Amino acid sequence: MSDKRIRIFDTTLRDGEQAPGCSMTLSEKLRVARALADLNVDIIEAGFPAASPGDFEAVKAIADENFGPTICGLARCNAGDIEKVYEAVKGADKHRIHVFVATSAIHREHKLKMAKEEIIRSAVGAVRLARELVDDVEFSPEDASRTELSYLAEVVTAAIEAGATTVNIPDTVGYTVPAEFDRLFRYLVDNVPNIDDITLSVHCHDDLGMAVANSLAAVSAGARQIECTINGIGERAGNCSLEEVVMAIRTRAEFFGLETGIDTTRLYPTSRLVSSITGMHPPRNKAIVGENAFAHEAGIHQHGMLQHASTYEIMRPEDVGIAKSSLVLGKHSGRHAFRDRLVELGFELDDFEVNRAFQEFKKLADKKKDIYDGDLEAIVMNAGGASSGPWTLKSLEVQTHTDQPATAAVTLIGEDGREVEDSAHGDGPVAAAVQALERVTGLELTLRNFELHSASIGEDAQGEVTVTVAYDGQSFRGHGASVDIVEAGARACLEVMNRILRGQRRGVAGSDTGDSSRATI
Ligand code: KIV
Ligand code: ZN
Repeated sequence: MSDKRIRIFDTTLRDGEQAPGCSMTLSEKLRVARALADLNVDIIEAGFPAASPGDFEAVKAIADENFGPTICGLARCNAGDIEKVYEAVKGADKHRIHVFVATSAIHREHKLKMAKEEIIRSAVGAVRLARELVDDVEFSPEDASRTELSYLAEVVTAAIEAGATTVNIPDTVGYTVPAEFDRLFRYLVDNVPNIDDITLSVHCHDDLGMAVANSLAAVSAGARQIECTINGIGERAGNCSLEEVVMAIRTRAEFFGLETGIDTTRLYPTSRLVSSITGMHPPRNKAIVGENAFAHEAGIHQHGMLQHASTYEIMRPEDVGIAKSSLVLGKHSGRHAFRDRLVELGFELDDFEVNRAFQEFKKLADKKKDIYDGDLEAIVMNAGGASSGPWTLKSLEVQTHTDQPATAAVTLIGEDGREVEDSAHGDGPVAAAVQALERVTGLELTLRNFELHSASIGEDAQGEVTVTVAYDGQSFRGHGASVDIVEAGARACLEVMNRILRGQRRGVAGSDTGDSSRATI
């Protein structure tokens, strides 16, 4: 690979998915992995197999699909973790084991209670074991940016001697600043004698809002792999955002003299896919993928744009996959146009799923004149769980009064076609609707979070609701969409109830959900 080529290592499914509220089901992870392959990332870190059986299964399922990129799994420096990663990733033609251990004084003293030499022995042993299993081994000294420089160089030298092929330098707590990180990378380049034998990598967190800037400082100083996530999701303030770092390298190619292999026209669809799955929507003014990123409101800007786009626009919306107009379909659009747009948005549905989503689209087109990308995403996200039964929402009637509890009446249709009605009171209309659903399904959920997002624009926009609920000690996330936001919330809860009931039937309650009970690092 040319020295100008930056490898993009995507950790949306590991560091991103580990963040609260971002857990994904197995089928959601597979959908994201396929989208990352279409985006042409070089490496997908698919998870941390030792964290839970669910993580192991997800990494294995992604590796077995063999989408194209290298599939990587994370391991602590112990044989159990390393062997689990190997078992999970070996199905992919290209696979990698990523081992890490913390090296900073703070972590050595307070977390690991290990001396410097012990940490080096542990890193060397782990890298050697991983190299016995695979040819591609990455080593990360966690909290590298707060580690003494000379000790960091010692650890990195030892890991390379032991067989590491990539060495990744994490700014685990988002503490460094660009000039300091530039110094750190130049120090390693000058003081690690075998540094040319490996790919040097960077992994930044965004606690001070500098993850992208710090990653760019690292590549200017010699790093050739960037670890990042879609929409910058991740622990606390998140990780380096893939779309921002990739577009910075591309837009300022004359400055950096570097390139990535990313198909940038897939950036926006991939961002939308991840936000609709996780319910974490980037702010409107987020660079590259925010809804306002290419909107020019000020009159003086609009005038300039009409004269020549380059007056105020440094990237074209179509370069990142934003259609010139996001108004895509209407009442008379056919199944082909519908399916083609879904594929462009990163959804690969089978015929049955397309037909089901198309029926929902037609129903929506009767209520709403213009259908936007956001509406299509909401339809697809909503169509899956709720309409796979056992219960389907036939009708919902809600009454609210100031100073009195709200009341809701629902009618659900069971698999055998039987209609069951019930009603309940609640503090508000959503609580009343959920309680009425609980009376029919016999499941009691505890609502932990209710997020409402407008799927598109205009007064008749659909409300897209993501709920996080607890049931039997586990956390579940559900999606629902409707032009009526109470109905959207009820659909989101019904989706979860259906999933729990299907899981109970298979005797594996919760197995189809993001797993909240795993260990994280
Ligand atoms: O932030 C971090 O240090 C990590 C490592 C495991 C690479 O995520
Ligand atoms: Zn991290």
